[in-house]
Amino acid sequence: MKRSALWVTIAGAILMTIMAASGATAKPGSTKKSSFGKTPDGEAVDLYTLANKNGVEVAITTYGGSVVSLKVPDRSGRLDDVVLGFASVDGYENNTSYIGALIGRYGNRIGHAQFKLDGKTYTLAKNNGENTLHGGTKGFNKAVWTAKEIPAKDGQALELTYLSKDDEEGFPGNLHVRVVYTLEDSNALEIEYSATTDKDTVINLTNHSYFNLAGPGSGDVLGHLLMIKADRFTPVDSGLIPTGELRDVAGTPFDFRKPTEIGSRINSDDEQIKLGGGYDHNFVLNRKAGEPISLAARVVEPKTGRVLEVWTTEPGVQFYTGNFLDGTLKGKAGISYTKRSAFCLETQHFPDSPNKPEFPSTELKPGQRYHTTTIYKFSAEK
Ligand code: BGC
Repeated sequence: MKRSALWVTIAGAILMTIMAASGATAKPGSTKKSSFGKTPDGEAVDLYTLANKNGVEVAITTYGGSVVSLKVPDRSGRLDDVVLGFASVDGYENNTSYIGALIGRYGNRIGHAQFKLDGKTYTLAKNNGENTLHGGTKGFNKAVWTAKEIPAKDGQALELTYLSKDDEEGFPGNLHVRVVYTLEDSNALEIEYSATTDKDTVINLTNHSYFNLAGPGSGDVLGHLLMIKADRFTPVDSGLIPTGELRDVAGTPFDFRKPTEIGSRINSDDEQIKLGGGYDHNFVLNRKAGEPISLAARVVEPKTGRVLEVWTTEPGVQFYTGNFLDGTLKGKAGISYTKRSAFCLETQHFPDSPNKPEFPSTELKPGQRYHTTTIYKFSAEK
């Protein structure tokens, strides 16, 4: 082989590796499966790249069912990746911030790492001070899910399933979980969660994507404009456990009923802002009775015009401004994930509901089916 031909081959191989790592491999209107590496136990992990007919792409790994990348257009049609993520499975193993992952069996915190159900006390792992966070030591974010491409009415769909065994992380009941990600041709990513159990249990599933609508490496998200459809939020104690109060947002830094810059009140002298180190709170969504799915939040990034709308069947959303990101985690393309470089809108039941009978119930019984839907809709404004 001539030297020049050899260089072309090497350059081609490097390009393929970069493309595979960023998931940029599917033709419009198709889904592509590739290898994403192996766990330390030697279990194979895959990456599925779903591309809708407009070329909008989402890459999802079977490790934690995590969204790895999500490329959506700005006002001029330029595609950029709007989520944080890692280039291979190793990044997800060290992913202490749950970036992009499916969260279960219980999203957010359970106070004092225990709850009572049917008169019995269940003890969980204390993985966040005195409390349990996001399902415990090995939550659903650390499981390798079984994936299957399934037909979608509109766009491309991927089904992920996982059996969480009775007593896993201390939770009762064998829980069969199914999550379907659908990338619709309207540039929406729908996540449909369902589950059944063989014993009374509690459940609260979500996805923990971190968004920055300006694209990778574009700094903090403080200039994004946010609207949350919530008249109330759940104030927390020093361990970030809700006190049980549903507090009116009026006159507080938690009033996002009109579009407001994320950063405009994030450093205010407010007890709740200080406890969260910024925003790390559950908002009580204003859902209309009988409405099958409701708008929860809308975010606009003024420079690119990108818009994200979050629709959900859930009663709450955790608005988190990446306060604990400290630059230690390095993501795709070597970008360090620094404080407030992304935001999360985690649709959910309220934190610590198993210990708060006044909150909407998170109990699931044999014979019942847990079923929730969240849709992240993308568009651009002029
Ligand atoms: C929690 C934060 C936590 C973050 C990442 C959010 O849901 O409320 O306190 O730091 O997830 O784990």
